Amino acid sequence: MHTYLITGGAGFIGSHLAESLLADGHTVLALDDLSTGSLENVKTFRDHPRFELVIDSVMNVAVTSGLVDRADYIVHLAAVVGVQRVLDSAIRTIHTIAGGADIVLELATQKNKVVFIASTSEVYGKSADLPLSEDGDLLLGATNKGRWSYACSKAINEYLALAYYRERQLPVVVARHFNTVGPRQSARYGMVLPRFIEQAVAGRPITIYGDGMQQRCFCYVADVIWAIKRLITRPEHYGKVFNVGSSEEISILQLARLVKEMTQSDSEIVFVPYDVAYDDGFEDMRRRIPDLRRIHNAIGYQPRVGLVKIIEKIMEHHYASA
Ligand SMILES: NC(=O)c1ccc[n+]([C@@H]2O[C@H](COP(=O)([O-])OP(=O)(O)OC[C@H]3O[C@@H](n4cnc5c(N)ncnc54)[C@H](O)[C@@H]3O)[C@@H](O)[C@H]2O)c1
Repeated sequence: MHTYLITGGAGFIGSHLAESLLADGHTVLALDDLSTGSLENVKTFRDHPRFELVIDSVMNVAVTSGLVDRADYIVHLAAVVGVQRVLDSAIRTIHTIAGGADIVLELATQKNKVVFIASTSEVYGKSADLPLSEDGDLLLGATNKGRWSYACSKAINEYLALAYYRERQLPVVVARHFNTVGPRQSARYGMVLPRFIEQAVAGRPITIYGDGMQQRCFCYVADVIWAIKRLITRPEHYGKVFNVGSSEEISILQLARLVKEMTQSDSEIVFVPYDVAYDDGFEDMRRRIPDLRRIHNAIGYQPRVGLVKIIEKIMEHHYASA
């Protein structure tokens, strides 16, 4: 059995990973500043004898260093997330994402640990080269469009991780997460599915940003956890980048209709222009499908939970915690 350090361990993906690793018999150290994570996310295992939560920032080098010392594997998830938060605080976004990964990678190298770095499908930017494959070009927007600061910082994480692998032999693997959904994901930071469900259940208008014809693929969090656990423990994957997600596409309008139907809601579906929802000149992608061949060939990855089942699970959680 091993000790895992999860930065962002009280977040959505982090808390599911912690729970799963505890169930496997491992010890979990979670480091989280609770900026978007919460104690609520870890409440069912907070008192587990093999779980420890440290409430602090990954930017606190002394604290992070002490935790890295105690870990065998480090899953680095801590980041500023949510389009609105990124637009509101680009400095914090860049510092936390680019700076946080730098700290983790340097400490892990000094202390001989294995690292998983969470990147994002956002790094593909506006690329229309579908399905998006790991070796394809990245097409980011202009620097005066704030949303790209997140993608660019995550891309820096990837360059750094690959450089640490090449130049300093750090065992590190990078995953580009596409939309990951499931219970505990907060509606507060602009994530579309929890927001639609919350609006539908409350009988408030379901708000679609843009025309709703943009398509996305949603992946269940347990499928992602399954992948993280296999990628980080197998040396043949170190030094590589993997897409992780689902390739089942749905338009945002269809998603709103599905949520409305499954929640038996009377909510009206309304359209909000991007420049009202976000900033003037906000850019969005019409489609974003991952090429999953690399991760399938590497670990046999295949998303197992479809969207209807996912929505059922989120609704169960929503009603149980209401
Ligand atoms: N959920 C998705 O669809 C998705 C998609 C692409 C990438 N990702 C990446 O996966 C990771 C986890 O995302 P999530 O969806 O679980 O979001 P989340 O907001 O629930 O998790 C991020 C966690 O990091 C914590 N955090 C932020 N800054 C910190 C700091 N300085 N020190 C310590 N902790 C800090 C937050 O409090 C939160 O608990 C992130 O790196 C995110 O960029 C997620």
